Parts: sequence; structure tokens; C-alpha cells
Amino acid sequence: MAIVSPSILSADFCGLGDQCRLVLEAGAGMLHFDVMDGHFVPNISFGVPVLASLHQGIPSAFFDVHLMISHPLAYVDAFARAGAGLINFHLESEDDPAAVLAAIRAAGCKTGMTIKPGTPAEALDPWLDQLDLVLVMSVEPGFGGQKFMPSCLDKLTALKARREALGLAFLLEVDGGVNDETAALCTRAGADVLVAGSSVFAAADPAGAVARLAAM
Ligand code: DX5
Ligand code: ZN
Repeated sequence: MAIVSPSILSADFCGLGDQCRLVLEAGAGMLHFDVMDGHFVPNISFGVPVLASLHQGIPSAFFDVHLMISHPLAYVDAFARAGAGLINFHLESEDDPAAVLAAIRAAGCKTGMTIKPGTPAEALDPWLDQLDLVLVMSVEPGFGGQKFMPSCLDKLTALKARREALGLAFLLEVDGGVNDETAALCTRAGADVLVAGSSVFAAADPAGAVARLAAM
């Protein structure tokens, strides 16, 4: 059984609360909240006030916040206060990872570190013992609806082996192009958490899509 984290980037923002409730009722374990600054990635999405509204409206939801921003350190506290359960930031961002991790922990959130497709899994080595979750990108961050990059699979396998060798317990999450076909490859390679945007929210039956992914 996989944990499904639907990416609300692909939701219909006109009825965002209802879309969130629908996927949670269908068995989503958390909600993936993609923050983009138009600098770290060539796109802008949504930020703190949207998270605050969703958290207020659906207090039981666990928000898996994915910061695709150049300076995560300056925003950790604001996202934590707005209701983030876990804060993912990119190893490739411009801030000192140790400082960002300390800020996330001090704010009372779970820690997540993310790598882009071009970053090797070994680059995470110095940080693994401080992480609750590792996010392996399976597309270049910035847009939903892209094609899955199979090169993420070897990274998942390597990180799973590393976790075992080190006796750690971080979750392995994969994000980008995850659908019925690619999800099976990811869970076989070691993914515990499946982020899925378009394959859930653009589906004719989003609840069914969540249930199928959760059964992987
Ligand atoms: C991409 C985002 C993803 C995106 C995934 O930069 O991090 O979370 O929403 O969308 P799909 O599942 O459509 O690839
Ligand atoms: Zn994401």
C-alpha cells in the first residue's frame, strides 16, 4: 500500500476545498502543496494564504509542502504557521541546508529534502539522518502534466538501500508523471509516497484514481 499525496497544482481552484476533501475521502494520506517562486522554477503557483485557508477549512488534512523556491529559509516559519505538516525544500536551493532543516524542526514540522532529476542520490548523504522524508523528482520541477523520467527509479532503489544500511526511517516520495503505469515502477523501486497531480485531478474519476494508486 502506497501513501498518496495528490498535488493540488492540477486541481480546479474554483472549488479547491471540495477537491481536497474528495481526494482525502478517497484515501489520500496527505495533500501535496507545490509552491513556486518564478525564480527557482519558471512558474508561479500559490503560497501562504492559500495554505492557511485550506488548513483552516480542513484542519485534519496533513499538508506536504514542496517549496520550489530559491530562498526557503525566509519562508519556513510562514508556511509552518499556515499549517504545513512537512516542509520539503530543494537541495539545489540557495540556502544552507543545515539552517533550513533547523528552521523546519524548530517550527514543529517534519523535514523533507528534494532533489531534481540532475542531482545524484549521493548528494543527500550528509543530510539523510536529519530527514523524515526524501523527495525524488521524476520530472524537472515547475509544471504539472510532464512525462515521467525513469532515471528516478535507480535513485529510489539506491536511497532505499542506503536507508537500510544506515538504519534510518525516512519516507521515500516521488513526484512527477506518476500515473497507474509509472506508480507501479516507483513502488517496486522503493517509493512509499506517490505524488500525483494530473493523473488524479484531470481524471474522470479522481476518487477512483486515488484508490488505485493507494493500492499499489
Ligand atoms: C512539478 C510539481 C509536481 C506536479 C506533479 O514541479 O512538483 O508536484 O504537480 O504533477 P503531475 O503529477 O501532473 O506530473
Ligand atoms: Zn511537487
